[in-house]
Amino acid sequence: MTSVTSLTAQVQQRLANALTATRPEADADPLLRRSDRADFQANGILALAKKAKSNPRDLATEVVGNIVTGDVIKDVEVSGPGFLNITVADRAITENLAARHADSDRLGVPLKDDAGITVVDYAQPNVAKEMHVGHLRSAVIGDALRGMLDFTGEQTIGRHHIGDWGTQFGMLIQYLFEHPGELAPPEDVDGEQAMSNLNRVYKASRAFFDADDEFKERARKRVVALQSGDKETLQLWQQFVDESKVYFYSVFEKLDMEVRDEEIVGESAYNEGMPETARLLEEMGVAVRSEGALVVFFDDIRGKDDQPVPLIVQKADGGFGYAASDLTAIRNRVVDLHATTLLYVVDVRQSLHFKMVFETARRAGWLGDDVTAHNMGYGTVLGADGKPFKTREGETVRLEDLLDEAVQRAAEVVREKAQDLTEDEIQERAAQVGIGAVKYADLSTSPNRDYKFDLDQMVSLNGDTSVYLQYAYARIQSILRKAGETKPAAHPELGLHAAERALGLHLDAFGDTVFEAAAEYAPHKLAAYLYQLASLYTSFYDKCPVLKADTSEQVENRLFLCDLTARTLHRGMALLGIRTPERL
Ligand code: ARG
Repeated sequence: MTSVTSLTAQVQQRLANALTATRPEADADPLLRRSDRADFQANGILALAKKAKSNPRDLATEVVGNIVTGDVIKDVEVSGPGFLNITVADRAITENLAARHADSDRLGVPLKDDAGITVVDYAQPNVAKEMHVGHLRSAVIGDALRGMLDFTGEQTIGRHHIGDWGTQFGMLIQYLFEHPGELAPPEDVDGEQAMSNLNRVYKASRAFFDADDEFKERARKRVVALQSGDKETLQLWQQFVDESKVYFYSVFEKLDMEVRDEEIVGESAYNEGMPETARLLEEMGVAVRSEGALVVFFDDIRGKDDQPVPLIVQKADGGFGYAASDLTAIRNRVVDLHATTLLYVVDVRQSLHFKMVFETARRAGWLGDDVTAHNMGYGTVLGADGKPFKTREGETVRLEDLLDEAVQRAAEVVREKAQDLTEDEIQERAAQVGIGAVKYADLSTSPNRDYKFDLDQMVSLNGDTSVYLQYAYARIQSILRKAGETKPAAHPELGLHAAERALGLHLDAFGDTVFEAAAEYAPHKLAAYLYQLASLYTSFYDKCPVLKADTSEQVENRLFLCDLTARTLHRGMALLGIRTPERL
């Protein structure tokens, strides 16, 4: 694997060198940007002139004299009050791209050298409950962030902090205890049956719980038995977890997302550590007793009437809750998994919880200065009416139903366009297009914003959609097939058309974009990059004939641009968790 330095980075370096040569003490940033007028524009000289009290245009001219040109940089012009317009050489563009093309796996993108370990807490449904649209975003965003981070060389460890512990299990287990055999062994059910079994048991036990005080009492005792590790109780609890996992796996499969069993580490996994967490917090004085409960207070977190809002580590009845498991999980992730970053992809409505949990862990010394903790809080999925997404009956939308509908809609689109596809192929593509559409709609919006779930828009062939990108990819594959014996090959000696340069410079920026998007946890920046890539490709294709280009060298060189565009689309989409079918 050879890593390639992007032209942006190379130009940046040359400019930095020239600035240092001109004003050694200043440590000025060239402030390089892509530009419409030339390839790049550098705006940093204005600030430097101000600092050095020189005339900016004169200073700019002086800097230009110190810029090494002739190979990468073809031309530098001073413009306006002291901007620099920079044009890179066609040859440099093609050579850089050729080096990327030769590394079909990583496209020349280097691995970062300060890689750490990021534990990503995402896709955390709750046992014995149906997954709904709220679980969609965490899964989709978390998976994309992992894809991007891994690509930069960061090591990610997934944690699916499923809700598999708590008082509600007393009721469920007691019911199962009194009505044995209502849950089938996991190997005998598929996802849908598993969920309908769980629903049935849930409803039945709930009915007993509400109507029968004696059952209620037995359910309460069952909670105590569960928490104290009673064997029989744990066995029945395990049945719920196993049955739920069958269901989760079926939904994640529909989502075309890999979930590994060893990364499903739910709240229950921290059960044993919770008393110690509480004891340590109390001993250190981080947590205090208040009305029987063990709580942590914060100066800046107050509720109504300016009353402090505490984080409850242990309830007055001795029970541990959500905060205790998260605090215990932090200890595990830092000490045992050696995490340098803890990333939580959890609904923004839980941001106060995480603020309190992180602060508590900092005070306790479990989160040191060398560990970053971040809640990537995402916004709400809205319906077409701009209100939180609900069914027509006002119920929360089941995740499976929503995915099924997306695939169905995609099938219509694929069928309409399909020329040489069999029915099986149409169904397979429909899944890739439909699920891709759902993921892309989510990922192309900044995570912290709400977005409207609008299937018509999501599967539209025009505009910023995954289908548009998938078609761009498939069209390129078809061109490459049509080229037959003529293979893509770079010809650095050829001059480039403006549309080729624009496409080429954008292709060259893939790695820089992934690094930026990963560092900022901003999948929408990668999505925007890919959309722009497809748009630049379209205008290249409009303006520059490929198979009918003037010379055979030109045909090969343009095929090479096509092929690298396809590889970059494929790689970028894969990082987001989206497929790119070869034919559509
Ligand atoms: N299971 C929770 C829910 O459905 C999300 C868990 C988030 N992760 C965490 N470490 N608290 O709301």
